[in-house]
Amino acid sequence: MNGLDAFPRSLALVERDGRVLSGCARSPYYPLVVKSGRGAVLEDVDGNRFIDFSAGAASLNTGTCHPRVVEAVTEQARSLLCYTIGYMYEESSVELAERLCAVTPGSFPKKVAYGLSGSDAIDGAVKFARAFTGRSEIISFRTAYHGSTYGALSASAISLNMRRGLGPMIPGFHVFPYPICARCPFGRREESCDLECLKDIEEAFRLYLPAEEVAAVLFEPIAGDAGLMIPPARYVRALADLCRREGILFVSDEVQQGFGRTGRWFAIEHFDVVPDIVVLGKAIASGMPLSALVMRSEIADALSDPGHIFTLAGGAVCCQAALATLDVIEEERLVERSRRLGDLIRERLAAMGETLPLLGDCRGLGLTIGQEIVDDNGNPDRDACTRVCFRCWQRGLVLTFLGDNVLRIQPPLIITEEEALKGLEILRLALEDYRAGSIGDEALRFARGWS
Ligand SMILES: Cc1ncc(COP(=O)(O)O)c(C=O)c1O
Repeated sequence: MNGLDAFPRSLALVERDGRVLSGCARSPYYPLVVKSGRGAVLEDVDGNRFIDFSAGAASLNTGTCHPRVVEAVTEQARSLLCYTIGYMYEESSVELAERLCAVTPGSFPKKVAYGLSGSDAIDGAVKFARAFTGRSEIISFRTAYHGSTYGALSASAISLNMRRGLGPMIPGFHVFPYPICARCPFGRREESCDLECLKDIEEAFRLYLPAEEVAAVLFEPIAGDAGLMIPPARYVRALADLCRREGILFVSDEVQQGFGRTGRWFAIEHFDVVPDIVVLGKAIASGMPLSALVMRSEIADALSDPGHIFTLAGGAVCCQAALATLDVIEEERLVERSRRLGDLIRERLAAMGETLPLLGDCRGLGLTIGQEIVDDNGNPDRDACTRVCFRCWQRGLVLTFLGDNVLRIQPPLIITEEEALKGLEILRLALEDYRAGSIGDEALRFARGWS
């Protein structure tokens, strides 16, 4: 186990960072300064090595610096970095759009619009939905996180710090309870559930929100930043049916869960729902800045130029990174691998939970796993979560948490079984340390965590 004296360069850099970078763009957990990485192993500026259970916030499904991606980027960089497709044309953006249309759910004609972040893609989904339907209102969900631009933020409802002092959001957004059964907002249990959360939307349609004025429902097929909560399939299907009946577009935000993360190409496929618009970001280009909307062609044709245009979006290097990413996911069978390793990790966590009561509910699909940390009374324990993540870092595991108490286990999909088990062993030791009361308050000095 490393004491803080094993991280001198890291600590010095964190201090420099604090003097010149705005703190609002980071929710830190510990002073990790990444210098390099390969696959599921990272190295910091002090030469310490870590197993990666975070994959750059689920943006590195192919791991850090996958050789195929690095080669594609390097090769492309030699001839053209980016020449705006806002005015001209370029082949890799077309090839990638063809591949994205083929791999996303739905066999109807589709088109793509590029951006640079998940947030701008969400803004785009709202624009396209409004333009296509001629309607203004947008439905999203409590605890949703869709991003940080004003549009994406207007659809998000998870953090007061993201709203405070920012003035009015964009009008026309309506937030409804996400179907989190473990904390059912209507006090139901599975046996007594009558999809009250869906009825809540229908009730709104009857009382104050005309359905014929609703353009789209923005839906996370797994509530990511809310703590990786999985909704019941019958809710998702009923929501999609409601959308279809009312002429409302169903938008699946796959920014965090897409590209094999959940053991399917896209998380919405677990629910047999075919969305009208799929929002892609993060892992699409293995860490290069790219996002994409893949949508029914007629929706894509509803906005006139230049209705959704960014100078550098869909640049050649990023598109080549994305093409290589798709190749790697297919050729290395990462979707299946995500399913298999996810099952293994959840199994091991369940076994650990038998001797460590700190481990509460564990849920997940593929390699998107939420492990709750609870106190002796079974209540969320943020303090324990903070200290355990800090100790994992000291012991060589990069792990973060969501909400008050959910360990966010989202390793790169290329992680080997051996690395995954080693990571779990580090987690077990950190939990033992916590139980023994040996994780000092220094853990709290660096950590804020996602709130
Ligand atoms: C579900 C979801 N949507 C959208 C976003 C925003 O993506 P970005 O941070 O690339 O703007 C995120 C980011 O965490 C996300 O998890």
